[in-house]
Amino acid sequence: MANVAILGYGVVGSGVAEVIRRNAQAIKSRSGADINLLKILDIRDFPESPDRGLFTKNADEIFENEKIDIVVETIGGTGAAYEFVKRALKKGKHVVTSNKELVSSFGPQLLEMAEKMHVNFLFEACVGGGIPIIRPLNQCLAANEIAGISGILNGTTNYILTRMRREGTDFNVALKDAQLKGYAEADPTNDIDGYDTARKIAILSSIAYNEFVDAKKIHIEGIRGISHEDMQYADKMDCVIKLIGLSKKVEDKILAMVSPFLVSKSNPLASVENEFNAIMVKGNAVDELMFYGKGAGKMPTASAVTADIIEIARNEKRNGKKVWHVGDNDILLKPDDVELKFFVRLEVSDKLEAMNLASRIIGNISEVSLGDSEVKNEIAFITPVKKEKQFKVEIEKLAKNKAVKSVISKIRFLNGSLNLNGQ
Ligand code: HSE
Repeated sequence: MANVAILGYGVVGSGVAEVIRRNAQAIKSRSGADINLLKILDIRDFPESPDRGLFTKNADEIFENEKIDIVVETIGGTGAAYEFVKRALKKGKHVVTSNKELVSSFGPQLLEMAEKMHVNFLFEACVGGGIPIIRPLNQCLAANEIAGISGILNGTTNYILTRMRREGTDFNVALKDAQLKGYAEADPTNDIDGYDTARKIAILSSIAYNEFVDAKKIHIEGIRGISHEDMQYADKMDCVIKLIGLSKKVEDKILAMVSPFLVSKSNPLASVENEFNAIMVKGNAVDELMFYGKGAGKMPTASAVTADIIEIARNEKRNGKKVWHVGDNDILLKPDDVELKFFVRLEVSDKLEAMNLASRIIGNISEVSLGDSEVKNEIAFITPVKKEKQFKVEIEKLAKNKAVKSVISKIRFLNGSLNLNGQ
């Protein structure tokens, strides 16, 4: 028997209550235990809720209640959520959370606290919503050295980019539509500027490499600057544009970054559309795996949270999850030292002169043209493979010339050593 309390009856918290209620029979047959929802903490009133008899506004009723074994945190943020999670762990209660901000900020401390108290701190729902990825990385792939992870980890941005590509809509129109559909929040910064993806790739990397990867220290670029014209050029190059979170072990360092990438249509990530997520993992024994599914939403996320509850009910002893080592040295590599290709668009006053200058400064570039719909005062090209820091110097030098008015776009290609499936 496992007695559960939920902190926060928002979208995910109410979803967890619903899954526990709806699937009680199936849960019992799988876990061999009754999962009882005993209390829900929320400052709001929910008189119409089927769970209305369980609400309390007094946290003591949960933390001082010895019957409650598992606390589910679905409040979000790092304020009250952090205090409550610490309090639950100190009281020897298992904790399950869907809060990626909390885990990516305080994962090492909370995992250590859970280890000391011989309880579980599980967070499957933090990455990929309903997609099982944390437990596969922690358990099923435990025999592997993980070489790299790359993925589409944010449903909102993937939905926006899909709309822009398919319907030729501008970024702002696609964003409004994502907000209307309930994917993007009123303040969409976390999603479209890449922070949500950064937290997710940081959590996955910390598990994969057993070394805490701080989301605040990784290179992050979002999708605000991507235009419909960029998408048209991408199509000409047999690519699509995706917001990718990736990390890779490079000797004893870790390259981790979030950025829009040009992804070849032959890469499985290219066909991940709308609000779906996909995560590719490369292990040295298993080789390449791809995990795919709904990365957000009430029920998919609640499915992952409830799976963690069942996991604890099945195995009340601590699961033996490794705590994340927090290194003294800066283990994170910046993209500056990565060798890659860029796609570049320049606004120019003289096309021929600008092309000549570009090939003189950048080297063996290949021009990309939109054909009939070609833009008058613009050139577009692909650079040869080179270190990013060298490319930055060259593009700056190029932009100083009179023939070049402005740099419209610079987008990285996901290929060479950055691409897990090697294309
Ligand atoms: N805003 C997130 C997304 C929700 O769009 O993927 C799940 O983390």
